[in-house]
Amino acid sequence: MKAAGEEQLEQYLKENFEWFHRHPELSYEEWGTTAKIRTLLTEAGIEILPCPLDTGLVAVVHGSKGIQSGREGTIALRCDIDALPVVEETALPYRSETVGKMHACGHDFHIMAGIGAAVLLGKRRGMFAGTVKFIFQPGEEESHGALKILETDVMDDVGQIWGFHADPTNEVGVVGIREGYVAAAVDRFVIRVRGVGCHGAHPDDGVDPILVSAAVIQALQSIVSRNVNAFHPALVSVTRLQAGTTWNVIPPEAEMEGTVRTMNREDRVLFERRIREIAERTAAAYGAEAETVWTPGPPAVYNDGRMAGLCGEVAEECGMITVPEESSLGGDDFSYYEDRDTVGRELPGCYVKIGVGVGKQIHHPAFCVEESAILPAAQYLAALLERALL
Ligand code: NI
Repeated sequence: MKAAGEEQLEQYLKENFEWFHRHPELSYEEWGTTAKIRTLLTEAGIEILPCPLDTGLVAVVHGSKGIQSGREGTIALRCDIDALPVVEETALPYRSETVGKMHACGHDFHIMAGIGAAVLLGKRRGMFAGTVKFIFQPGEEESHGALKILETDVMDDVGQIWGFHADPTNEVGVVGIREGYVAAAVDRFVIRVRGVGCHGAHPDDGVDPILVSAAVIQALQSIVSRNVNAFHPALVSVTRLQAGTTWNVIPPEAEMEGTVRTMNREDRVLFERRIREIAERTAAAYGAEAETVWTPGPPAVYNDGRMAGLCGEVAEECGMITVPEESSLGGDDFSYYEDRDTVGRELPGCYVKIGVGVGKQIHHPAFCVEESAILPAAQYLAALLERALL
């Protein structure tokens, strides 16, 4: 049985969740989303920090139990707010009103779980000392939205960063927690192969960049099996290969693109070096040339052991079931907040997965969050943040 106040809060969370689901906005275009979050928080009496952000915002709740300031007494919760360019295929009565845009990653759930936690903490100011910042972050799907937040001074006095994600592999009431690496570093590469174009019937007159590309792609897979420590999770995927215009002409160039996923810092360096070597030297062996463009993305997400322990304790106190969090070679730009190369210091972080009902995976057009997941998630996050400050 839920208390009357709880039922009211649940209704509020569901109604506004449906609004966000109906109005998805892509990365860095979250204008309406930001305005709505601002309105809801302001109406709830939650302070919003002045912050030079185009989209996204940062709210703050100060405890009044005593004085706890600086990094010791300031923590943050990251909630990402952007949607994906996906055509929704659910039968929900509140499905996306914009064809081709969808909250297919559950960030609408993140928004309302975050707002719910802020509202609950706002009512319990007298119970804790310190400050909680709620970061409603833009552009997570583009992998760099966290950097927009880090360009401001919002994180300067923060001593711990907390994050979470909707998890459609678990039922409502289940939370996945793990110490250590839980998501991969996400790097991207493009390889351009230059050969010599010629007639398809006279390959001896040219240098075939498609044959070179095939050899490069095959050889790239040897990095995981022959260069990376066998105990380190890692993969490389070539996801785009383009060359040629017709059936009887060998083109002069080919281009391929792909992604590298790693969990260990040194493996990123290894991959960049080996990809360049394999591309350049394989091409040279065939009389072609290759150029590699390496674009680093967010590093791996690492869960601090003490924080992960607290996540488990609070989950049990909240009557939730804890399971080992699935590690994934997917990525999340949450890692930038805790990355010493980005923020210039070690910032402990923890990122948990909150069950939203078993269904289609995130990014699938029929991905769906069970609305009954929102209130318990808000309550859990509020309890977790409060405990983290005690
Ligand atoms: Ni997501």
